[in-house]
Amino acid sequence: MELQDEDAEGQAEFWQLALAFVDSLALKCEVELGIARIIQEKGGLVSLSEIVSSLQAPSSDTSRLMRFLVKKRVFSVELKQGEAYYGLTRLSNWLVRPGESGLAPMSLLLGHPTILAPWHYVSKCMSEGGKPFEKAHHRDFFDHNSDNLGFVHLFNDAMASGARVVLEALLSEHKSVFSGLTSLVDVGGGTGTALNEIVKANPHISGINFDLPDVVSTAPNYPGVLHVGGDMFSSIPTADAVFMKSILHDWSDTDCVKILKQCRKALPKGRGKAIIVDVVLRPEEDTSAFAASRMAFDMVMFTLTSGGMERTEEEWRVLLKEGGFSRCKIFPLPTLQSIIEAYPDPDEPVVLP
Ligand SMILES: C[S@@+](CC[C@H](N)C(=O)[O-])C[C@H]1O[C@@H](n2cnc3c(N)ncnc32)[C@H](O)[C@@H]1O
Repeated sequence: MELQDEDAEGQAEFWQLALAFVDSLALKCEVELGIARIIQEKGGLVSLSEIVSSLQAPSSDTSRLMRFLVKKRVFSVELKQGEAYYGLTRLSNWLVRPGESGLAPMSLLLGHPTILAPWHYVSKCMSEGGKPFEKAHHRDFFDHNSDNLGFVHLFNDAMASGARVVLEALLSEHKSVFSGLTSLVDVGGGTGTALNEIVKANPHISGINFDLPDVVSTAPNYPGVLHVGGDMFSSIPTADAVFMKSILHDWSDTDCVKILKQCRKALPKGRGKAIIVDVVLRPEEDTSAFAASRMAFDMVMFTLTSGGMERTEEEWRVLLKEGGFSRCKIFPLPTLQSIIEAYPDPDEPVVLP
């Protein structure tokens, strides 16, 4: 490649990166307008005029959004007698999956002003210290959520949609992690979506969905699932095994060790296990299509939490050992997260901080 071409390539890469917010927010705009849903309901290819007339407030500017989203492979397009007809793609299929099992609520959450505001403090916090979320919102994430009901509903819906996607992969590829269990506590289980899926697929398990009292008070009833409110740093209901999805990545190593020690206390002495579902970073080896998003989530955790992070395999092993789980097996999934099955040290007494 000529130096001039290299220069132009570099400039093009700069613009792609600097304008990447347009990708994310155009996707959110699509979800708000419900265009993928309109195309799905009408079936097959749908003309621009049909899409526009189905919108609550039809606008000719929609064609500009559709042109951009075709470029980003959110929609396909075909020209018929001079008119554009749009269809779904493998990407937009994830926005309209049946039974609320799609990722649309995740797009609404990740593009929400509450999530984006801390980014304006990232460089300041990296050079001077401090937490981006606290600089933007004057308190930590879960405290902020406790009296922002609109946002917390959006957050819980997004978590539930992500949970359904991961649980589908987990239950189809590694259902055996739940074999032999009669009880399971989902620590930080939100409104109970993940546990409901687990108990439906494993009716021999009685489930305890454990989360902050404000969160479980909004949870729907699910057969076989008992909702319990509390604080995982103080005590966790006892069960044969603990399940934690997207919990430990919210916390610093010191806080994770406190949570893991409470988990050990909740398990039968020297037995049971923790089933952890979280991102496992493999910066060098990860060649999957999820690799960059896994690292992006590490940055998201930096902006939202006070010490949370995505961890490498080595960091997980060290952390779990410190929390009293010295043996673990890791199973990758075709999603952002992997399963980490961790076993408590049989002889060591649990020393709580
Ligand atoms: C990132 S969300 C994950 C929710 C769910 N596990 C999932 O993946 O869909 C973290 C959850 O931890 C809960 N949480 C935060 N602090 C907690 C605490 N001290 N005790 C119990 N749950 C807590 C939050 O309310 C929230 O539901």
